[in-house]
Amino acid sequence: MGETLLINPHQLLLVGEGDFSFSLSLALSFGSATNICASSLDSYVTVISKYKKAKSNLETLERLGACILHGVDATKMKVHPHLRMRKFDRIIFNFPHAGFHGKEHNVLMIKMHRSLVQGFFRNASGMLRASGEVHVSHKTTGPFCSWNLEELAYRNSLSLIECVGFKIEDYPGYNNKRGDAWRCDESFPLGECSTFKFRFSQSSKKKSRRTRNKRNANRRPHRFNKPRETLARAEI
Ligand SMILES: C[S@@+](CC[C@H](N)C(=O)[O-])C[C@H]1O[C@@H](n2cnc3c(N)ncnc32)[C@H](O)[C@@H]1O
Repeated sequence: MGETLLINPHQLLLVGEGDFSFSLSLALSFGSATNICASSLDSYVTVISKYKKAKSNLETLERLGACILHGVDATKMKVHPHLRMRKFDRIIFNFPHAGFHGKEHNVLMIKMHRSLVQGFFRNASGMLRASGEVHVSHKTTGPFCSWNLEELAYRNSLSLIECVGFKIEDYPGYNNKRGDAWRCDESFPLGECSTFKFRFSQSSKKKSRRTRNKRNANRRPHRFNKPRETLARAEI
């Protein structure tokens, strides 16, 4: 088992799972899944129709005591009925990806991926226990490095504490999945990739608020350049 993750007593939340083989790999190494909450964006029916091993992976996870959730949007998960009262030691999203809607270098695609990761960080940062960590495994070559995970995390009060090379052989049985379109059940070449680990940081919260305020102060006011009488009426 890789040093990147995990001690058994940690409460783990996995989001954006494909065929749930990563959650299962962790569970089998622990010999139990009672500390694992594993989730997918897709519904159960979609998951088992997309991935040929998903049904048996899910059955084993359940037998080992995992909590399994489907239809969990990582960008809204903090208000999910089964998650909103819970805090975790590790929140893990392996190879987040918003889908194949264009070439990976396309600026709109990069924007979509960044928006997914940003939404994930915004939610995850409020769902951590003390000393909890958010782990994102991600490719580190272009164009993926231009997503700039560290900046997205920082905007959401998370500071990078470590970045370690991701080795798939550390997770026996894990099959990384494309997750979308007709080749969803195929794996994609990992190439150079790492697990980025973040912790909640009050100081990054303050700094990013200061940067935002400065940016706003430098902007020309739009809303208050109406004639005086209009403004006065609007104030009533
Ligand atoms: C490249 S696949 C990786 C799948 C899996 N994590 C793995 O490593 O095999 C990207 C995953 O991100 C998921 N995803 C995309 N948008 C999401 C969202 N808003 N919330 C949760 N998962 C999302 C997809 O459903 C897909 O499973």
